[in-house]
Amino acid sequence: MNPLQRRKLKKLFKNNKAWAQSMTQDDPGFFMKLAEFQHPEYLWIGCADSRVPANQITGLNPGEIFVHRNIANVVVHTDFNCLSVIQFAVEVLNVKHIIVCGHYGCAGVKAAFEGSEFGMIDNWVGHIKDVYRWHKAEIDAQPTEQEKFDLLCEKNVIEQVANVCHTTIVRDAWKAKKDLTVHGWIYSIENGLLKALDAEVSATNPV
Ligand code: CO
Repeated sequence: MNPLQRRKLKKLFKNNKAWAQSMTQDDPGFFMKLAEFQHPEYLWIGCADSRVPANQITGLNPGEIFVHRNIANVVVHTDFNCLSVIQFAVEVLNVKHIIVCGHYGCAGVKAAFEGSEFGMIDNWVGHIKDVYRWHKAEIDAQPTEQEKFDLLCEKNVIEQVANVCHTTIVRDAWKAKKDLTVHGWIYSIENGLLKALDAEVSATNPV
């Protein structure tokens, strides 16, 4: 590591100290309270993209949102990492909302859209290629490449919402009459705004 890199890393610790100080200035017991328990109402399943930070774009503090991120916010039925997060969030933390949030301009979705190859990751992107295949007629009917790509980003969110709803975890929660709603949102990197897609599912408003 060269000295510049070392200084950049040091800056992170400096930032961290300043942030911790400002948090305790506003609320002296903030970290003490958090150390005892977390009580998030939301589970966020989003893209790993560095431009889509869950807490910042929703204005939520530590302790307020439980987060799982992967490339292109994909929920795969055999992904024990994602399933474990969902189970913990629903059964232990009792979150009220699961938000699947995609974003326009998603590189993972783009790779599926263009069929570009990156090696191992193509297997992951294959899940989004499935989404494209299921909605090919509607997507290909869009007038411009941009609109096709945008629509695939939205369809990917909606399909992942369906995947969340079909997990045994969420189905069991609804059977037990838990107050749990699954949402599909999309974020625009260009203007920083979130949009709710027509994909809100609960026990009383099924898929
Ligand atoms: Co992305």
